[in-house]
Amino acid sequence: MSGGIQIPPAPHPVPAGYEPAFFPERQGGAGAAGGPEEPRTRIVVVGHVDHGKSTLIGRLLADTGSLPEGKLEAAEKASREEGMPFEYAFLLDALLEEQAQNITIDTTRIGFRHEGQSFEIIDAPGHREFIKNMVTGAAAAEEAILLIDAKEGCREQTRRHGLLLSLLGVSQVIVAVNKMDLVDWEEARYRQLEREIREYLGGLKISPREVIPISAREGATVMRRDSKNLGWWKGPTLLEALMIGRAKKTADSEGPLRFSVQDVYRFDERRVVAGKLESGRIRVGDPVVFFPDRKTSRVKTIEAWGEEKAILEVGEGRCVAVTLEEQIFVERGHVGSLPEHPPVESREVRARIFWLDSEPLRLQSPVQLRLGTQSVEARLVAIDRVVDAEKLEAASEAREEVGRFEVAEVRLRCRRPLVYDAHDVVAATGRFALQRGPRIGGGGIITSAEYPASLARAVTGEHLTWTEGRVSQEARAGHFGHEGAIIWLTGLSGSGKSTIAVALESLLFRRGIGCTILDGDNLRHGLCADLGFSLEDRAENIRRAGEVAKVMAESGLVVISSLISPFRKDREAVRNSCHAAGLSFSEVYIDAPMEACEKRDPRGLYRKARNGEIRGFTGIDSPYETPEHPDMILHTAKESVEDSVGRLLHHVLALVQLKEEDRESAGGPGGQI
Ligand code: ADX
Repeated sequence: MSGGIQIPPAPHPVPAGYEPAFFPERQGGAGAAGGPEEPRTRIVVVGHVDHGKSTLIGRLLADTGSLPEGKLEAAEKASREEGMPFEYAFLLDALLEEQAQNITIDTTRIGFRHEGQSFEIIDAPGHREFIKNMVTGAAAAEEAILLIDAKEGCREQTRRHGLLLSLLGVSQVIVAVNKMDLVDWEEARYRQLEREIREYLGGLKISPREVIPISAREGATVMRRDSKNLGWWKGPTLLEALMIGRAKKTADSEGPLRFSVQDVYRFDERRVVAGKLESGRIRVGDPVVFFPDRKTSRVKTIEAWGEEKAILEVGEGRCVAVTLEEQIFVERGHVGSLPEHPPVESREVRARIFWLDSEPLRLQSPVQLRLGTQSVEARLVAIDRVVDAEKLEAASEAREEVGRFEVAEVRLRCRRPLVYDAHDVVAATGRFALQRGPRIGGGGIITSAEYPASLARAVTGEHLTWTEGRVSQEARAGHFGHEGAIIWLTGLSGSGKSTIAVALESLLFRRGIGCTILDGDNLRHGLCADLGFSLEDRAENIRRAGEVAKVMAESGLVVISSLISPFRKDREAVRNSCHAAGLSFSEVYIDAPMEACEKRDPRGLYRKARNGEIRGFTGIDSPYETPEHPDMILHTAKESVEDSVGRLLHHVLALVQLKEEDRESAGGPGGQI
């Protein structure tokens, strides 16, 4: 590193009780605390309690020569003195006992090296909340070793572990069929188990890289081959399989750049942005866009701890510090990306979560979502499917909460935009922990994400910049007592959109909510006067209306838009763009049957369309695509305007009104900017 800057330790100590597995920047004692971090493969070993986990870990450490000096001899001596046969499991116990004295957390990390590569085993030794540790540990692991006892075979717990690995998105699995010595090293028994486990994991969309017969106690096929007993095994040893996984990972094309900012340090005029490369590669000269604010600057220098030479680029897994050409405002929790492959920035998150806390997670109850260095308050807004991880059964009834040891497909809404990826696109920024009070209550992976288009043109091609105001959306919300939002009414001409919009606007206004109407007909008098009713023109009409709605909602207003907006893809595009801007978007379907609309025909348009005086009229000779998942449906032909508007008012107030404590934390009227 030129000039040898000393990065001070990060001012964010890990509070007792936190699971470090969810905070990759603090792993291995390197990184934020200084010292070069070597990329390492994190492995979780899972299996039934008696299937030989400790023995395997002890064996891996001993065979690879990764034990502290004299440890092996001391453990051997101790077991001789006690007249017990030496067990590799003792070795691990002895090591862990030493570590345990200064450990307040219940996941242990054990490092070992083999042929110049570093590995780290994430383990939860015999803890009561074993399953919790497995889940939190597995969430950060890249590889899993699933242990089966050759004699006992697949047990219920093995199946559950398989399920959890799949739910947590650990797809790199090696199965070790252990204790082959207890089944006389029989190939037939191994083949039978191999079939069984492959079939089961296949059902979970996990295809194990290898299913390897081993005996951890005898040291067979862990590091060394055992040609005497397992001469029939032609596949790799366990360590070879781990090394192959490692090589494959390096060779695989890299993911998009995700640079999680841990801290920003000032040295005189210089600002150094320190963080972790969760994915991808960063080079000097790269234009990096920092989310959530999308500020862009080129990388001027890259600095890494302990490096004297100038660094031109670094890759995934490293903790680095960069200086930027422009002095843009960046802080902890921001995520840098290249313009071509931006992450998602949204308040809505679709995820699969696993809940561990004895107190269930209820709809609408607040929980802290932690993803990389981001931490944001979120609420569960929908529970789509719940599976009991003990029984592996899906709950049949609609649920208002996710209970302990349940897995659920959910939707979360965050108070501020969260920057994330789908887990299958970038694993590191696609998983998160859910924290309630000081405890981690559960974890999850992000199952889908609506990516914005490349920002390359806007950022680099057209010499455009983005001027950032100093009044945040939060400050505005604190000032007005409510958030801005877009209430998008869609439905046929004559379905009652305008009537509902006008009534809703006055009810909101009377309650002190800043609001306005964006009406399709009105916009077509001015902003959209150049547009007709072709599919393209309607798409452009909706795009413009969406952009205007966004600007107004960003300024703190509740925007009630009232346009036919007949096409799903146009409405979806507005929804995505609003979410990307961190705004709530509610699609409200004004549902009245075509016959009812035609009967009302307030402006005689249906009659004209029937007579051929208007071409391409929605519902007559141009389609209307009904919303598939509207946030609300109002049946204006069946219920009174008062009833419809009453329901809608309730929905909107719940969406935008701040709770008292939120209002205070945002600074109240005239509050902090
Ligand atoms: S949208 O399809 O692009 O969303 P928008 O809501 O802006 O339509 O405008 C619809 C209004 O335009 C209708 O309420 C009606 O008054 C008028 N209009 C004129 N021609 C048509 C047509 N061919 N189809 C639908 N609405 C039309």
